[in-house]
Amino acid sequence: KRVAILISGGGSNMVKLAQSMAGDHPARPVLVASNDPKAGGLDRAAEMGISTAAVDHRAFKGDRPAFEAALSAKIAAANPDIICLAGFMRVLTEGFVRHWEGRMINIHPSLLPLYKGLHTHQRALDAGDQEAGCTVHEVTAALDDGPILGQARVPIIAGDTAETLAARVLVQEHALYPAVLRRFAAGERAPVYLP
Ligand code: GRF
Repeated sequence: KRVAILISGGGSNMVKLAQSMAGDHPARPVLVASNDPKAGGLDRAAEMGISTAAVDHRAFKGDRPAFEAALSAKIAAANPDIICLAGFMRVLTEGFVRHWEGRMINIHPSLLPLYKGLHTHQRALDAGDQEAGCTVHEVTAALDDGPILGQARVPIIAGDTAETLAARVLVQEHALYPAVLRRFAAGERAPVYLP
């Protein structure tokens, strides 16, 4: 299976996904694309020998369909079977999602269905939750809402800030996402739960 990974920033999840696709793994990374030409993950992908592409969403001044058409053209050129959103911070239109439905997955830093959207860690802290975590799900038109493919939980510890909690969750993201992708690429849909 050919995998394209979409990022917006440092791409730590992308690096772990790319590193996991080796040996007898059913998938290989064929493209890393970003909405930000300055995303640090693009350099990391290039260092790993993976083709990269960037479409600056700011150049489209709110014309989301035009931005997505440009991004889709770059993605299509790599002819992927699967798209992994990994720290990708743009909301995709229904048209894009429908085109990729069943073949696009995302990692979200909360225990969905809790805390869809942004600032997930602060919201968990404010709610006095005892635990937090991350979820890998199939991408559907509704934001952060598709079928769950895996979750990882971490304890919330007294004194945690959004930053300390995010760091603890990120470690689990790096374990969860590769585990889910391997199964997803093999056609397995049984969810993964860590620990
Ligand atoms: C992290 O906050 C992670 O929780 C979310 O996207 C952000 C950046 O991830 N998935 P990455 O380091 O760019 O993969």
